Amino acid sequence: MMPTLIVTTRTGEERQLDGEAGLSVMEVIRDGGIDELLALCGGCCSCATCHVHVDAAFVDRLPPIGPDEDDLLDSVGERDTTSRLSCQIPFDDALDGMRVRIAAED
Ligand code: FES
Repeated sequence: MMPTLIVTTRTGEERQLDGEAGLSVMEVIRDGGIDELLALCGGCCSCATCHVHVDAAFVDRLPPIGPDEDDLLDSVGERDTTSRLSCQIPFDDALDGMRVRIAAED
């Protein structure tokens, strides 16, 4: 069974995506055909256009925010305690059922 990621788009549509171990959350979203997540830098942690808000129940289970991610998140308009760059979250079985909401465009 592939772990499931539940994504809420900017228009409020909810989509259930099959994740693949080894992909980042950004890649799962992109491969799921949700093109509003721009992810312009392709996952190099240098653009912040892959900003998502993570389900509060999962925030503490994720790898900690690195210094580059932290700097980039400071540049977005809508940062809060659930903010992450989705390219910096490896998706795996332990995150099955996690919900993320795509952040507003800056
Ligand atoms: S895709 Fe550019 S920082 Fe995540």
